[in-house]
Amino acid sequence: MKQACVVEVGPRDGFQSVKEFIPIEIKLAVIDGLVGAGLGRIQVTSFVSPKAIPQMQDAAQIVNRVLDKHPSTEFFALTPNLKGAKAAAESGLKEICVVLSLSESHNMANVRQTVEQSVEGIAVIRQELPDMKISVDIATVFGCPFEGQMEIPPLIDLIGKLSESGMDSFTLCDTICVAYPSQVKTVFSAVESAFPVHVFGAHIHDTRNMGVMNSYVSLQNGAQSVQTSVAGLGGCPFAPGASGNTATEDFVYLLEKEGYSTGVNFSKLLDTAKYLKSNVPSGNYSGHHINIQD
Ligand code: COA
Ligand code: ZN
Repeated sequence: MKQACVVEVGPRDGFQSVKEFIPIEIKLAVIDGLVGAGLGRIQVTSFVSPKAIPQMQDAAQIVNRVLDKHPSTEFFALTPNLKGAKAAAESGLKEICVVLSLSESHNMANVRQTVEQSVEGIAVIRQELPDMKISVDIATVFGCPFEGQMEIPPLIDLIGKLSESGMDSFTLCDTICVAYPSQVKTVFSAVESAFPVHVFGAHIHDTRNMGVMNSYVSLQNGAQSVQTSVAGLGGCPFAPGASGNTATEDFVYLLEKEGYSTGVNFSKLLDTAKYLKSNVPSGNYSGHHINIQD
C-alpha cells in the first residue's frame, strides 16, 4: 500500500488564526484527540513574540504538557528567530521549523526583517543549536498578498543559500491559497531536480477551495509530507486574505479512498474536528466533513 505522511499543523496554524484566546485545556484536548486519531507528527505550537501573536503565549506550557503524555508522537514547533528556537529547545522539543518568506514584503510583514536577514538568522540558529532537528518553512512560494505570483528562480536561489548553512528539509507553503495544480507540479519538479537529495513537503491553504487538490498534486510530484489542519482551521495573521487551511480529515478521506495508508482513524479525527469547531466557534473553518450531519 502507498504510504502518505500527513503532518498536523492545526495546533499552530489553526490556533494562531483565532483572535480570542483559546483556553489551554481546549488546546490540549484537541492535541490529545489528534494523537488518539493516529496523527504521528504534530506542529504543536509556535515560539513567537507574544505581542505579534498573543494566542501562542502558552507555547512552553503546551509542550510541557504533551511531551510526557505522548512520548511516541513527533512534536515540533515553528519559530522565526533564535530567541524562539532557544525557548523551544528549553521546553524539551527536539525539532523545530524556522520560517521565512520568499517575498520580501511578506517577510517584512511577518517577521519584520529582510529575507537576507532571515537567511543569516537561520544560519545562526543552525550553529547555536547543533543537536536540534531543523526544517525551513518557506512562505508565499506560490504567491504573495503584496507582490502577486512568485517565480521559481528566486526560490531556487533562496533554497541554495539556506543549503549553505546545512538546511536540507523544506516545506513549501501556499500561504494565501493562490496555487493551482500545474504550478504545484512545476514548482515541486523544479526544486527536486535542482536539489535531489533535499526533502520537500507541502503546506497549502484552502481559501479558494484548492487545498485538497493542490496537496494531492504535491504528493504525486515528490512532496514527502503534506501539512494540513484539523477542521481546516488556519491562516497567517500577517497575510491579508489568508483564511482556512486544508482540512486534515478531508485530505485523509481522499488519501484513504485513493489507496494510501495514512495511519489515521478517520472517525476519531472527525470527532476531534467537530469538538474543535464547537469549542472555538469563532474560527474560520474550511473543512467539508465537519458540516455533514449524521
Ligand atoms: N518568543 C518570545 N518573545 C519574543 C520572540 C520569541 N521568539 N522574539 C522576540 N520576542 C520579544 C522580544 O523579546 C521583545 O520583547 P520586549 O518588547 O518585551 O523586549 C519583542 O518580542 C520584540 O522583539 P523584536 O526582536 O524587536 O521583534 P520584532 O518586534 O521585530 O518582531 C518577530 C519580530 C519575528 C519576533 C515577530 O514579528 C514575531 O514573533 N512574528 C511571528 C510571525 C508568525 O508566527 N507568523 C505566522 C506564522 S508564519
Ligand atoms: Zn499556514
